[in-house]
Amino acid sequence: MNDQFVDDLLARMTWQEKLGQLQITYHPDAGRTRDLVSAGMGCIFWQGSAEATNAMQRHAVTHTRLGIPLLVGLDVIHGQRTIFPTPLALAASFQPELAEVVARISGREAASGGVNWTFSPMVDVSRDPRWGRVVEGFGEDVLLNSTFGAAMVRGYQGDDLAAAGAIAACAKHFVGYGHAEGGRDYNTTDMSEYRLRNTYLPPFKAVLEAGAATVMAAFNTIDGVPVHANGRLLTEVLREEWGFEGVVVGDADGVMNLIPHGVAANPSEALLLAFRAGLTVEMGGNLVKDGIHVLTDAELSPTVVDDAVRRVLTLKVALGLFDDPYVDPEREILEATPEHRQIARDVAASSMVLLKNDDALLPLAEPRRILVTGPHANSTDHLGAWVQSFATPSGSIVDELRRRLPETEVLLSLGATFLGGDEPSLAAEAASRASESDLVVVFVGEPGNLSGEAASRSDLRLPGQQEALIHAIADTGVPFIVVIESGRPLALSEWFHRAPAVLQAWHLGTEAPHAIVSALTGRTAPSGKLPVSLPRSSSQVPIFYSHENTGRPATVGGQLEPTKWDPALHGPNNVDDKYSSKYLDLDLGPLLPFGHGLTYTRFEYSEARVSTETLSLDSLRHGATFGLEITVTNVGERAGDEIVQLYVHDLVAHRVQPIRVLRKFSQVHLEAGESRSVSFHLCFEDLAFWSESHLTPGFDVEAGAFDVFIGGSSDAALATRIEVTTAP
Ligand code: BGC
Repeated sequence: MNDQFVDDLLARMTWQEKLGQLQITYHPDAGRTRDLVSAGMGCIFWQGSAEATNAMQRHAVTHTRLGIPLLVGLDVIHGQRTIFPTPLALAASFQPELAEVVARISGREAASGGVNWTFSPMVDVSRDPRWGRVVEGFGEDVLLNSTFGAAMVRGYQGDDLAAAGAIAACAKHFVGYGHAEGGRDYNTTDMSEYRLRNTYLPPFKAVLEAGAATVMAAFNTIDGVPVHANGRLLTEVLREEWGFEGVVVGDADGVMNLIPHGVAANPSEALLLAFRAGLTVEMGGNLVKDGIHVLTDAELSPTVVDDAVRRVLTLKVALGLFDDPYVDPEREILEATPEHRQIARDVAASSMVLLKNDDALLPLAEPRRILVTGPHANSTDHLGAWVQSFATPSGSIVDELRRRLPETEVLLSLGATFLGGDEPSLAAEAASRASESDLVVVFVGEPGNLSGEAASRSDLRLPGQQEALIHAIADTGVPFIVVIESGRPLALSEWFHRAPAVLQAWHLGTEAPHAIVSALTGRTAPSGKLPVSLPRSSSQVPIFYSHENTGRPATVGGQLEPTKWDPALHGPNNVDDKYSSKYLDLDLGPLLPFGHGLTYTRFEYSEARVSTETLSLDSLRHGATFGLEITVTNVGERAGDEIVQLYVHDLVAHRVQPIRVLRKFSQVHLEAGESRSVSFHLCFEDLAFWSESHLTPGFDVEAGAFDVFIGGSSDAALATRIEVTTAP
């Protein structure tokens, strides 16, 4: 089955049948969906079971003139039945190979029920954690989004889309959605071509190179043009520049949103704008309406429609749907299997980030009596945003602790609810129980629905009275650990200094309680690193490691300390550094940097070794590389995993460069006392940036010096300086 098959089919289709292929409706009831399929609709949302989905496929195949099978889409974001850590948590593993496994299992579970298309992965670089959808992507960094996105695509699609268990991936949301003004969902995005090309487009390029079959248009505008009507992005960049031959689906009602955006006056105008710009499938249900088609071939060019239909049919062929659109209901996977659960535990262990661990409080030495408190202690809300109602639920942490530590008395006191309005007595009661315990573990954070779509927050602190609970526990003097489950990086400054140990656990999915207890007890060791900087305060965002230096970088943070403040003479105490880029009332930089994460052992880095300090631009263009090698030693008393990170700074270029860019990372497992050398190769792409004013507009390397930093976070020390020369 090939292009010829598609061309022949296309030649037999009526205008109405063609338009039908270019639509997917969401969430209508089965009766309504059947009517729309009868009217020619070619794509549906999953029907909830293998049997119901088979029935709809059968309807399409037997009750429409040409019997074209259906694309069946669903948001399988971090699991179908087995829920894995959220994408943001997954990114904290810095192990893209885990994302591939997660996607493969999720795809297999979904495919067993008849899903053949997932709206994942999201590769929107997210630098403003007020935006709730930061949880759905891989954080603030370009390379993390690119590598994790590509790994997810490989996991979902495998080598052959027609193979059992493979489903089509969708790179979303193209493009710039993570840059919404003020972090408000669906809001305006405006940015230079320079930033678009260097930061927001590269992850999409990477996932398309990994073979993503589809792309979803973003809700936002760029340059005043909503992406759903943006021909420059959907046609010029995606198709003409990058040669994308797959399907571009609109986001839910994204085409109709062109009306409130103010670029279309009515539905047909909105549809015309979108299809002319390069959209392939409208999501929302406006193209085929009760059998009456709103667009005529006088309005929309048949060439545009034929091209879109060809893309949809080609995908259906690739998925093998014309050979067999059905799945075996007997083999539908209905809940997490023990094997999948075990993998979910392993992935969760690698996703947790140990933010601090004073006095090696963790792992827990078998305490006689512990108090667990905080809203996450007894809740079962650990799955995270974007899960469906049929996902395998998780249990509670307190139950898991009691099961796993039979020798320990585990007391429970709620301490605070998620959103507050609490009786102050809740924290007071927890504090009094704390005094009867050897140790307290405070489980705080956000419920799952406080992140994800339409879940932006203006205040990044723990919601409700949870900070008050932490202070109340700290006041008792009993040693305590804070475990944070959240869908975004939170602002922890107001209590962080008081907590001896803090574990960032994100939302880890079905196996969250098991994985968290394993990490606390030392059966596993948290080995993740922050895929996002932790801000000092909500008003400091966006704050991200890969920023530009500015003409006046600050060296001293601001502090409005009344004792040092002399308004007559100096103003703030750091007046020497006054005319620099900072806030007068905040320390410099984030609370904790991107890439930071401790574990239950410590690592030391040797001096770096470099294969050559100088390469000519010409040889770099022809494939020469700088080889770098560093020895990492586990200097602690137990085995552990380290994520070795390499950052590059281009010192002088004709356009300003970020102070550091993550270019390589690698996970290394070391037994206690073991040393291992880790090597990297920096090639042309690793030193290049995009500019329209290069000799040839595009990515290029400019000769000069580059600093290379290698270590365990974005604060890594300078490893070496390398030089690219113009000499041949
Ligand atoms: C979201 C998409 C999602 C779609 C379908 C939209 O509201 O923005 O990410 O894939 O709904 O559920």
